[in-house]
Amino acid sequence: MTSRIIAVDPFDLVVFGATGDLAYRKLMPALYHRHRDGQIPEVARIIGCSRRPMSDEAYQKLTEAALEKFVPIDEREPELVASFLKRISYVAIDATAEKAGWPELAKALEGGKDRIRAFYLAVAPDLFGIICEGLGSHHLVTPKTRVIIEKPIGKSLASANALNDSIGKVFKESQIYRIDHYLGKETVQNLMALRFANALFEPIWNANHIDHVQITVAESLGVEGRAGYYDTAGALRDMVQNHILQLVCLVAMEPPGRFDADALRDEKLKVLRALKPIVDGDVDNVTVRGQYKAGASAGGPVPGYLEELGRDDSTTETFVAVKAEIENWRWAGVPFYIRTGKRLPSRLSEIVVNFKPIPHSIFEGAAGQLASNQLIMRLQPDEGVRLWLMIKDPGPGGMRFRHVPLDMSFAETFKIRSPEAYERLIMDVIRGNATCSCGVMRSRRRGSGSTRSSTAGPIRAKRRRPIRREPGDRPPSIALIERDGRTWHEEGA
Ligand code: BG6
Repeated sequence: MTSRIIAVDPFDLVVFGATGDLAYRKLMPALYHRHRDGQIPEVARIIGCSRRPMSDEAYQKLTEAALEKFVPIDEREPELVASFLKRISYVAIDATAEKAGWPELAKALEGGKDRIRAFYLAVAPDLFGIICEGLGSHHLVTPKTRVIIEKPIGKSLASANALNDSIGKVFKESQIYRIDHYLGKETVQNLMALRFANALFEPIWNANHIDHVQITVAESLGVEGRAGYYDTAGALRDMVQNHILQLVCLVAMEPPGRFDADALRDEKLKVLRALKPIVDGDVDNVTVRGQYKAGASAGGPVPGYLEELGRDDSTTETFVAVKAEIENWRWAGVPFYIRTGKRLPSRLSEIVVNFKPIPHSIFEGAAGQLASNQLIMRLQPDEGVRLWLMIKDPGPGGMRFRHVPLDMSFAETFKIRSPEAYERLIMDVIRGNATCSCGVMRSRRRGSGSTRSSTAGPIRAKRRRPIRREPGDRPPSIALIERDGRTWHEEGA
């Protein structure tokens, strides 16, 4: 079975940072897949830009190597790879230099004035403003142009505003797409379907019926050559303030009036504003921070975070767990336990909604056998939805119970390759689709940025040393949840 392909209009996509990790690991593979599925129009062009001078052919070779590394072999048909590479050209641009290469980019874009034009800034945020300025002053911004950026968009409200202002000098708000790739993930999209396309859950989706929510985003990889950036961000800014808070919002928000970007953002913003601020005195009770040491992972030795960083010391966390609370009628008293980290035992992301126990058991002596219902939305790997229910153990001999999942693996059910988030996100931008499905937060919503900035500040302010742990160790956040009499959901446990 193949997925339904929605055609897009002809476009030119310019990727700044074309020789970076994001371009090679995610963007080029995503574009290749869209090409492979026939979604990219014949005339569409992809132009890679970065500082290093090289020919089109040299960049095509590098892209080919990236596809070999990041696209599974059975999805790499040689003729499709070749036709994809033919679409790609390359322009060397050093936006900080005097002779930056803008005229060459203008030339590469010749003939495309009436098409959709998208600039993907897969570069450090301090280059956003300079690149936008260059695009503006060289008249490369047409009415159909869009610019795509990703976090980190500043470290504070002031720096986020400064960045937004520098982009805003050249692009109208409606042309700016600030994407969060977690919103492009299939299960994250499905969370909205599950909540708002079914009548089943909404009546019990509140503090009367839900005991607590857990969100885990565990990675087995380390910082993978990004230690310089990562040390300024840590797990809090790299994962919590963007991806995980988006997930919190989707779980916790009120039903929007319609599935439209503004309506969704309005509801998300209300959740962010209702988050209980974490103040200095609470930090030790509601957060745990860790940092990985050298050890073994996936059967081989791996360096510790400090070795990767090349320094003797750093207080940056590579793991963080937070007990978050949402102060409104729907969620009062329902903790959201969130945790994320690198070099954890396995790659696993999931949202677990734990319902309250039944109020009274009619089954004498069975109380200890009755576990609460649990809804698990698995983001990766093996995306799917699992609802744990109590059923009667089959057979005679009285009522004995078992906790059994109603299980839906997307791969099993739909028998199609689940598209990577970036495939959807890029195509949505080309289509001008700014709904939550492409994960855009616009600066008209800057209030949400400020609300989120308040999370990292106090937690990191003390610059306390995080707990050092070996790769593969269980996350050091047991106490955070156990002191509330709860346990983390562990697969197979
Ligand atoms: C990125 C972070 O936004 O998300 C990375 O900067 C992290 O540090 C990545 O590894 C995780 O994304 P995914 O899709 O692999 O879960």
